[in-house]
Amino acid sequence: MSETLRQKYEAAGQGHVFNFWSQLSEDDQKSLVSQLGSIDIERVNRVYSNAIQSEKHAAESNQSIHQGIEPLPEESFETILGAPQKEAQWREIGLEAIADGKVGVLLMAGGQGTRLGSSAPKGCYDIGLPSHKPLFQIQAERIARIQQVAAQAKGKSPASVVVPWYIMTSGPTRANTEAFFEEHAYFGLERNNVVFFEQGTLPCLSMDGKVLLEAPSRVAVAPDGNGGLYNALRTPFHLPSSNSSTTVLSDMESRGIQYVHAYGVDNCLVKVADPVFVGCCLQKQAECGSKVVRKTIPSESVGVVAVRDGRYSVVEYSEISKEQAELRDPKTGELAFRAANIVNHFYTTKFLKAIESFEDKMAFHIARKKIPFVDLKTGEYSKPSKPNGMKLELFVFDVFPFTHDFTVMEVERTEEFSPLKNAPGTGSDDPQTSRRDILAQQRRYLEQAGATVADGVEVEISPLVSYAGEGLESLRGKHFDKPTVLDKLSSANA
Ligand code: UD1
Repeated sequence: MSETLRQKYEAAGQGHVFNFWSQLSEDDQKSLVSQLGSIDIERVNRVYSNAIQSEKHAAESNQSIHQGIEPLPEESFETILGAPQKEAQWREIGLEAIADGKVGVLLMAGGQGTRLGSSAPKGCYDIGLPSHKPLFQIQAERIARIQQVAAQAKGKSPASVVVPWYIMTSGPTRANTEAFFEEHAYFGLERNNVVFFEQGTLPCLSMDGKVLLEAPSRVAVAPDGNGGLYNALRTPFHLPSSNSSTTVLSDMESRGIQYVHAYGVDNCLVKVADPVFVGCCLQKQAECGSKVVRKTIPSESVGVVAVRDGRYSVVEYSEISKEQAELRDPKTGELAFRAANIVNHFYTTKFLKAIESFEDKMAFHIARKKIPFVDLKTGEYSKPSKPNGMKLELFVFDVFPFTHDFTVMEVERTEEFSPLKNAPGTGSDDPQTSRRDILAQQRRYLEQAGATVADGVEVEISPLVSYAGEGLESLRGKHFDKPTVLDKLSSANA
């Protein structure tokens, strides 16, 4: 065993991880050393003390917490609702950036979908569309289509426009996600343009900040939250055996990517690489942006993008008072706090790189949980019946307070947000509502194009045919009276 490793852990007050050392087999000793060597224990201690301090600060200011929260200032808020000209202008700007190869897409797919009740990664989920396309395929086909649309709009050859797709997985989702893409031939995308990487983990800690062992030779760890994205972007993503030092940020740089659209895997309506959002953020010269939908009912349990203590922030519904939740904008009569967070962000790569310089200031959130552990005195494995420790998570929006040029763009909920959170039959944010919302949108696309669809008839449009309702002109006057899947327009006209 490397003495320096032991000294390092002892100096950090975490020497107990070697408690069972003398009883371990040689193989177990090796694996413990390898795991401990991969953990930056000083950082773990810093993360813990920042998290505790931040929690304390929040508790102390609990009485006055509502006072530091204000609605977004007008200059950082944009909406496409009722603003078709602005929307069209932004679309053009965004399409140009896409056609120039400056836009990449980041998918956060490290969550485990516990509430959905499926053990597979959420992106593999079939929401029951007539085509049975899983969420990953819907998103892949939107990327393929937007590449085409941008090429066409800017007079480039279709093959010359590439939007690389960076997919963040986690320990529990990586292998299954990669295997799923292999099995489905990357859903028609170029394999080279789909890059998998993995978010990090952090040791689980006891209530007083000591690393917990889940076995005599193994530290208990948990994924570091979707805000683990920022650290993962700078971490080499190939398996250590390949010796490659390529990171997502270096890969982006080598491809000339300057702007990034990031989103969560569970939203079946997500406009991947949305040119309108990209264009809006470019026009406003934002380094970071957040797409939101309008909160209309004060009691809805969603976080809102707002200003807290003078800095941009996502404020949870539990953090604003009833009066604040009900407050109206005197000009519009809309809720003053209405910018509901949907995990849909824009970044410049310059900003993503700069995060390293302030990352230590972002406080992790503490989730107190029941964490199985090995008792240091008896060596016995124990499954606690009440919370005995903590998992530490960073949230993707924890960077907002550190932004200076920040833009919020409001979009129509029925067009852009229908998340898959809950088990089938729950009645909200479940597979049936996802399916319903996507098919309702496609019916609207057809009607806007001048086609008609008989009542109760379902027509599914492949994202390869239309990204956001465009390209359906040839269907004008067509009546759909039986269920149809439009994979290509010739199938509709047949
Ligand atoms: C999230 C938002 C919440 C928002 C809601 C809307 C966060 C922290 N919260 O809540 O403000 O109103 O979505 O749908 O973003 N993920 C990872 N790694 C992780 C955990 C999650 O990649 O360790 C990914 C998930 O795969 C998913 C996204 O992050 O794509 C959101 O995670 P989820 O756990 O679904 O967040 P919610 O609690 O629903």
